[in-house]
Amino acid sequence: MQEYHVPVLLNPSVDALVYDPDGIYADATFGGGGHSRAILKKLSAKGKLVAFDRDDESLANAPDDRRFTLVHHNFRFLKQFMRYGKMLPLNGILADLGISSHQINVGERGFAHRLDGPLDMRMDKKSPVTAADIINSYPEEKLKHIFKLWGEIPNAGRLAGTICQGRTGKTINTTEQLKQMISSCTPKHSPAKYLSQVYQALRIEVNGEMQALESLLKAAADCIGTGGRLVIISYHSLEDRMVKNFLQTGNLDGIRKTDMYGNVDRPFNPEPNKAIVPDEQEIQINNRARSAKMRIGVKQ
Ligand SMILES: C[S@@+](CC[C@H](N)C(=O)[O-])C[C@H]1O[C@@H](n2cnc3c(N)ncnc32)[C@H](O)[C@@H]1O
Repeated sequence: MQEYHVPVLLNPSVDALVYDPDGIYADATFGGGGHSRAILKKLSAKGKLVAFDRDDESLANAPDDRRFTLVHHNFRFLKQFMRYGKMLPLNGILADLGISSHQINVGERGFAHRLDGPLDMRMDKKSPVTAADIINSYPEEKLKHIFKLWGEIPNAGRLAGTICQGRTGKTINTTEQLKQMISSCTPKHSPAKYLSQVYQALRIEVNGEMQALESLLKAAADCIGTGGRLVIISYHSLEDRMVKNFLQTGNLDGIRKTDMYGNVDRPFNPEPNKAIVPDEQEIQINNRARSAKMRIGVKQ
């Protein structure tokens, strides 16, 4: 059987997160539970870990450990859960963003352009909008907007126009149909890169990923106590930019605002200031690690 997911930057992320073994931590993106299990190893009998995942297929990976709770929910609601469970302030939050290898390897989930399957892409199978709904119903301008914004696709306008023309009189239901329909827009020299960008844009829109990340960053500022850690691993530049701006300037636009003494008004100090990336050895073992960037903030 294929492994559910190989955790990326496992030791550096968990070492950066857990500074107090008696503390309360959150793993916002449980997945296969690799990071959670490593966190639990570092915790004492008093420590606690609450993990979140919106995909019900991840629930079977939950370790049987009385210090551990798994919440089947969007991490957007982390603050409400923690407050309700009287678990504030937190000592740290870890988020390993995006999708797991399991999600991408199962054709029926529709996350991979190399596998034929339904155009789904929902992390939570109960959420109302699929990638097919977007492809079949979004107006041309809105499609162009998401391809440009979330996929950073240079010919977003042409792509949106091709989709709107191609879907006339029929419904697009599968990844293969979408691939065929947009083949005239796909560059012959790097089709996989282009299709990954198209899929990235659709996935971000289907799952509201940027909005969820924004909520998580704001919740982290409210929930983590002084000296606590925020550790975020991201896999594309849009997410990394948002995290970097937030840690460095305290806002999502990256505009530095200083007080009368010249101090930047921000909830976390980025430590270190630069992103940490996997070494060559990790990338060789786990190709998925190649695009990972980890940023760490220490709550002021
Ligand atoms: C990269 S995987 C995490 C892998 C995990 N660190 C491990 O060691 O196995 C990301 C996981 O986060 C979940 N996820 C992504 N966005 C989420 C959100 N907004 N709320 C809850 N879970 C989310 C996905 O369903 C997926 O299982």
